[in-house]
Amino acid sequence: MLNEVQKKILSLKKEKNAIILAHNYQPEEIQLIADFIGDSLELCIKSSEIKDKELVIFCGVDFMAETAAILNQNKKIIIPEIAAECPMAHMLKSEEIVKQKEKYPNAKVALYVNTLADAKAEADILVTSSNAVKVVESLESNQILFGPDNNLAKFVDAQTDKEIIPIPDGGHCYVHKMFHEGDIAFKKEEYPEAKLIIHPECDKEVQDLGDAVLSTGGMISYVKNDSGKEFIIGTEVDLITRINREVPEKTTYPLLDDAICKTMKLHTLEKVKNALENEEYVVKVDEKIAKKSLNAIERMIEVSK
Ligand code: 13P
Ligand code: SF4
Repeated sequence: MLNEVQKKILSLKKEKNAIILAHNYQPEEIQLIADFIGDSLELCIKSSEIKDKELVIFCGVDFMAETAAILNQNKKIIIPEIAAECPMAHMLKSEEIVKQKEKYPNAKVALYVNTLADAKAEADILVTSSNAVKVVESLESNQILFGPDNNLAKFVDAQTDKEIIPIPDGGHCYVHKMFHEGDIAFKKEEYPEAKLIIHPECDKEVQDLGDAVLSTGGMISYVKNDSGKEFIIGTEVDLITRINREVPEKTTYPLLDDAICKTMKLHTLEKVKNALENEEYVVKVDEKIAKKSLNAIERMIEVSK
């Protein structure tokens, strides 16, 4: 059952011919009014396919909404809360990439989609947690500058013969850094039959204990298709909200109850309603930067098909 604000959002959405996109970490109240929910790659692909809508409400963090804006330079992309930033995306500055390119002139630059638009403009290609190995393998160079997540870099490094050079030092996600081996031992003791699924932003020691290391979208498919009945989920807690709704026959447990991405939760129903009513806050990307970074995004989408 939808509440009054949710019903109002749906009628405004229709009236304004808008589409609402939401990341898997959005709270349930927002997941329920979204037209599309997905992981970073799924959201990129969906954003690249919007044809008949002029207004896009993006319930996710800054880099995701910016990517949608780069892919839709003639549409209005609105983020309901302007402070919804991903701290990791701010860890790699474009100047640092330029400096590293000078140091490694033969290297190709593969950047995690969790970067800001001016950093993306320096990339040869983007990656997400669901396609990083495939994308890196598609590059012609054997030397790859890869950032900003050092843990995703290690995940790729273990699966390719190419030289992966992580940039910058210490790039990380504070949410996925919360998980430790002790948390796994604790949960495994409680739920010995459960399979453990880990996000590649987690530390290598944690990744190594997982039955699978997957993006959030990959985790949903795994739970749906695996013969197991119980799963421990090593990522942000609201992914479980979606899994429980869509795969109710399986049981999932969060690896940690307080693995919460605080900025993802800044969006609320009232703010989504405001976004539709007042068309704020508009996500703007400098035209030159948008043109320069579009190539890396489109290249990734092409390789991922
Ligand atoms: P996914 O692409 O796996 O959803 O990851 C996005 C993200 O920011 C994870 O922290
Ligand atoms: Fe950024 Fe981490 Fe939040 Fe993902 S979970 S949006 S990487 S801070």
